Amino acid sequence: MTHRITLTVNGIQRTLHVEAADTLLRVLREELHLTGAKKGCGEGECGACTILMNNQAIRACLVLAVEADGADIVTIEGLAPPGEITRVQKAFIEADAVQCGFCTPGFVMALEGEMRRNPHATRDDLLNALGGHLCRCTGYESILQATDTLARQLAQKTKKTKK
Ligand code: FES
Ligand code: FES
Repeated sequence: MTHRITLTVNGIQRTLHVEAADTLLRVLREELHLTGAKKGCGEGECGACTILMNNQAIRACLVLAVEADGADIVTIEGLAPPGEITRVQKAFIEADAVQCGFCTPGFVMALEGEMRRNPHATRDDLLNALGGHLCRCTGYESILQATDTLARQLAQKTKKTKK
């Protein structure tokens, strides 16, 4: 038996018929062909499938599609308008924090989620948001560099708003 769900995905309303056991990740990747969120562990342990659901970073392999009925979903494909990138993506590019790229959408979405939740996030807040995200290639050094850049930008902004 299938269930009818309606989601807003990257600003577009979608109606889908899903099985009770379908994960949100499967539906995004295989029904909507949004393959930016990756299937790594499939068990909530690696962070590769991270997306925003109602503005919060979540692991899409752990959410059933039926649980997301009515939700607002943003994937890496919908983060910035076509041809543009966000400050998180820019920081990753500048720090050369991408090698094979498998983990990158998850890292980026986790930071985006934290910065949307808390516009005054500190370096520690950003690092906490990256807890449990795994990367097999970079050794994390460049990802930390990108995170430091973002933390500095946020600190400057916070300082300005306090003046
Ligand atoms: S695939 Fe979802 S956390 Fe690893
Ligand atoms: S860049 Fe390859 S897993 Fe992170």
